[in-house]
Amino acid sequence: IDQLLAEGVAGKRVFVRADLNVPLDGARITDDGRIRAVLPTVTKLAEAGARVVVASHLGRPKGAPDPAFSLAPAAARLGELLGADVAFATDTVGESAKAVVAGLADGHVAVIENLRFNPGETSKDDAERGAFADQLAGLADLYVGDGFGAVHRKHASVYDLPARLPHAAGYLIATEVAVLKKLTEDVKRPYVVVLGGAKVSDKLGVIDHLLEKADRILIGGGMAYTFLKAQGYEVGISLLQEDQIPTVREYLERAKAKGVEFVLPLDVLVSPEFPDLKTKAPANPSVVAADAIPADQEGLDIGPETRKLYASKLADAATVFWNGPMGVFEHPDYAEGTRAVAQALVDSPAFSVVGGGDSAAAVRILGFDEKAFGHISTGGGASLEYLEGKTLPGLAALED
Ligand code: 3PG
Repeated sequence: IDQLLAEGVAGKRVFVRADLNVPLDGARITDDGRIRAVLPTVTKLAEAGARVVVASHLGRPKGAPDPAFSLAPAAARLGELLGADVAFATDTVGESAKAVVAGLADGHVAVIENLRFNPGETSKDDAERGAFADQLAGLADLYVGDGFGAVHRKHASVYDLPARLPHAAGYLIATEVAVLKKLTEDVKRPYVVVLGGAKVSDKLGVIDHLLEKADRILIGGGMAYTFLKAQGYEVGISLLQEDQIPTVREYLERAKAKGVEFVLPLDVLVSPEFPDLKTKAPANPSVVAADAIPADQEGLDIGPETRKLYASKLADAATVFWNGPMGVFEHPDYAEGTRAVAQALVDSPAFSVVGGGDSAAAVRILGFDEKAFGHISTGGGASLEYLEGKTLPGLAALED
């Protein structure tokens, strides 16, 4: 982007592909981290006199307009953060977008509606994606890729559009890549990885890769129950991916053979029912040993002994990567596991990277100061796939 700026962007229409996929409660944004993350790029371009067209996806609408997934709240928040009026187009490449972009003055910013309201954005068909990218290209003179959270998606605005316009990486993508490189090249040891979140299937690739890199892997969240089951424990009605048990067993064996320490919960918080995240009514969970989960109960957070154990396993780390909450942190009765991991990172001198929309949001929602961590990544799947060593379409498209 510095090169684009040096060449001059005044009066040019610059398409900024951001990731404004923020968590919403109705129209209320519960964590605006991803919007703040794109501010350096948007501000620099606007200050340089560009006509900035910000675009993003939000959620997973089905290729058609759906008010529940409108980017309007994100556009309004971007305006507040910039302290400037931000125009909003109610479509992606239609009359509204064309009019809003045509009406942009130098140094002003517009947001177009959710890119996934158009089926061409996510299409597997190259021609369909290409046709949408052609329409998007009509809105701009230059392209800046800064939606790090979406670079693992081979989508029209991420992959096909940069091929059609002079392009550059924005500041957020540059920072994210520089930080994640530190986790792949010359890693300072001990390198401890904490993985949580609901599904073990989302993490298999990264575990496979980290078995070659990490010294210690701590497991929590919904995915922990598939590990506990693979060890022969009963997990009641906890989240379970039965079909993944053989792979998980194989990983546990490989870890042993390689001397990678795999750490599983010693105790968990259980309840017969999932908590009400709207009312946050008290859930009154019980603490049970990980090998004594009652048949009619569900594990929803790591327990107090596990919190202590995980904190001790993080205390001497030099590098930490954390992806995925330890429990249903959105409910106060199940937030302590996630809070304990966050606190352990704050207390440790390790270089810590928090990756994943959920864990990054959790850290902020639980009131931690982002600056206490080495880096809070805006990428969930993107940071995992980067660490897996995969080629990410949105980065490859910017490389030349
Ligand atoms: C994310 O939240 O990880 C990114 O915004 C990508 O969203 P997606 O998984 O719906 O493609």
